[in-house]
Amino acid sequence: MRGDHWEMLHGRYQDVMNDVTCDAWIGDTPYSSTTHSGHDAMTESDNAKMRRAITYPAWTPDDVRECVSFWSPRTRGWFVTITDDVLAPHWRAALADAGRYAFSPLAYVVHGSRFRMAGDGPAQWSLWIVVARPKREPYSKWGALPGAYVQPAGELSGHRAGDHKREIGGKDDWIMRRLVADYSRPDDVVCDPCAGWGTTGAAALREGRSFIGSESRESAFAVSCKRLSETSFQPSLFNPSKAKQAKITLDLP
Ligand SMILES: C[S@@+](CC[C@H](N)C(=O)[O-])C[C@H]1O[C@@H](n2cnc3c(N)ncnc32)[C@H](O)[C@@H]1O
Repeated sequence: MRGDHWEMLHGRYQDVMNDVTCDAWIGDTPYSSTTHSGHDAMTESDNAKMRRAITYPAWTPDDVRECVSFWSPRTRGWFVTITDDVLAPHWRAALADAGRYAFSPLAYVVHGSRFRMAGDGPAQWSLWIVVARPKREPYSKWGALPGAYVQPAGELSGHRAGDHKREIGGKDDWIMRRLVADYSRPDDVVCDPCAGWGTTGAAALREGRSFIGSESRESAFAVSCKRLSETSFQPSLFNPSKAKQAKITLDLP
């Protein structure tokens, strides 16, 4: 049934995803050490008020290149990742070098977002979404897509909004559902190899896609499996006309 198919693999994607291919790659990979250390620089009370410290390692430009060279040949359609301002140009360049058409990074704005503020100026970092498509039809005829993502005020995920103990992290449902709706088609296989607590997977199932993911940390892996087992198809929040569009089937080059 639509929105029912998912699989999560426990381990590093390099070790457990060798045989996987997908229609759309939609991820939220670790950010640069600049962002991670900004998090570390927050006071304990900032952290308690906002978010927990990031406990997994930051990524370097080499990690970005490794990820693109692993995944670009395994991804038939769009490649989409949320990242920070340091790594965004590296993603774009790596995706272009892999033969894709890589767009200018799209700003992702979350109203009221205060994290990474030391109190002496504006937020120390910003979120960007790097998107790239194959240089061929039908992807070159996909249609107009937003040039930025502005999350409506108050759009926290139900999952996190009720999470008073802050045991669960991850992106808000709104942005992941939006990206799934914009960059994949109904019944596509969406992949997120750095799945964290499973927000992309939950978004994919709700939007009527299948999902495959991996996660190296056992605790996050367990949370994502539980979350996906409790998630199913819901009528799309966005682009209802897209739900009528047929799935695009292409062979890998
Ligand atoms: C930014 S978090 C993802 C959060 C997720 N988008 C969510 O909303 O729940 C990045 C995740 O990538 C995982 N990760 C980093 N490198 C990995 C690798 N090589 N293979 C699998 N998982 C990896 C980290 O453990 C971390 O949980």
